Amino acid sequence: MASEETQKAGADGSVATAEETLSVTDNRTGQSYEMEITDGTVRAMDFREIKVSEDDFGLMTYDPAFKNTASTRSKIGYVDGEAGVLEYRGYSIEQLCEHSSFVEVAYLLIYGDLPTKDEYGRWEHEITHHTYVHENIKKLMEGFRYDAHPMGMLLSTVGALSTFYPGANNITDEHEQLMAAIRLIAKMPTLAAFAYRHNLGLPYVYPDNDLTYPENFLSMLFKMAESKYEPDPRLARALDVLFILHADHEQNASTAAVRGAGSTQVDPYSAIAAGVSALYGPLHGGANEQVLRMLDRIGTVENIPAFLEGVKKREERLMGFGHRVYKNYDPRARVIKHHVDEVLEVTGKGPKLEIAVELEKRALDDEFFTERKLYPNVDYYSGLIYEALGIPPNMFTVIFAIPRTSGWVAQWLELVHDDEQAIARPRQIYDGYREREYVSIHER
Ligand code: CMC
Repeated sequence: MASEETQKAGADGSVATAEETLSVTDNRTGQSYEMEITDGTVRAMDFREIKVSEDDFGLMTYDPAFKNTASTRSKIGYVDGEAGVLEYRGYSIEQLCEHSSFVEVAYLLIYGDLPTKDEYGRWEHEITHHTYVHENIKKLMEGFRYDAHPMGMLLSTVGALSTFYPGANNITDEHEQLMAAIRLIAKMPTLAAFAYRHNLGLPYVYPDNDLTYPENFLSMLFKMAESKYEPDPRLARALDVLFILHADHEQNASTAAVRGAGSTQVDPYSAIAAGVSALYGPLHGGANEQVLRMLDRIGTVENIPAFLEGVKKREERLMGFGHRVYKNYDPRARVIKHHVDEVLEVTGKGPKLEIAVELEKRALDDEFFTERKLYPNVDYYSGLIYEALGIPPNMFTVIFAIPRTSGWVAQWLELVHDDEQAIARPRQIYDGYREREYVSIHER
């Protein structure tokens, strides 16, 4: 508690104590310390001053999985998990999904403001004209086994891009920074589509500069013998909305991986490859693939109660439910749910939607889930849209990586311009043996 409890009103009418400090008494020594509270946080390094003796290292904070640790200041994405709010640079996700496009949102994330008409024209031109990859990247992809997981192919080719653009090693050069941002955002759909075509044994389709970003991606996935691929605009729009929704989500596991790798001053392609790896995991971007597999396993609406019993007995997880930050309906899930119906109107309904809707309803009626504030997250319905578009489950996470690249790049740029950041290097509590005597292998 602060020593003086005098109250004063803030400019916004809120009431705050006069002293924004935290007083801590170390009962080992009886000594008291006062720490500054800024933006609702105390500095972990201030605890280092708390020592039992001069040669003591000082107190550390222990926070496995960073459940209560802010590692950066950021102006990019804002999430209010309790209220179910997501904003990019101050614009609500709902507004952006209604009025904007992914390419414009990528500009917003990178530059901080919406572009003027001219700025948008230049940006769209750059993104469209950097979609081609070096032919040797194509050859590298051809070297993968016929059934290689496309996410494994994506993560290695993103890493490989660094070898094609060695100038990107100069991470403080603003031109190189911008070129890396453009190249990564522009080439990701090409790498993703090539990985997909590889799995099918089909020739890779080169980018079509006449098409929009989502249309071009659909063309690279699905174009066959026709001279020009013409995607249904409703499907292209649904994909664009999914891209907007997945563009950034502040300090999630993959963004933390990008920032962690980037803090070593490695080039941006290698830093983003770290993000792709983290996204691959089933608890992160891999969840939407798992949702479809789960719905397949459930098979019919009649099997839902037995499945939910299994979840409650902790035999499995209800994939696509729950979130580290959202303790309310994930706002992205709400927008997606609306688009599922629209897409299925074009492509025709399958049995999985019925199972998904019923499963959601029953879970939200069940105390196990409500008590734990488990609601559908972004991945619960996105897989259904991808499936309706004809995209197989092993491509879902790959598609997540395409728009998230814009968020990763924005976060990487913020990191390299942040003087407070240094190499990310956590501490540990060592629990292992000390000072053991080596015993020869013959005597063990
Ligand atoms: N099914 C069943 N129980 C769950 C689930 C779930 N999906 N999620 C959380 N719980 C339970 C968990 O067992 C725990 O119960 P208890 O307190 O009795 O031990 C409680 O809810 C709190 O869960 P937690 O694991 O401490 O929460 P977390 O913040 O560490 O994990 C999560 C968040 C997303 C990893 C987790 O909710 C989960 O595994 N969900 C399923 C996977 C998923 O859909 N992931 C996509 C996340 S959104 C997109 C993205 O970020 O990539």
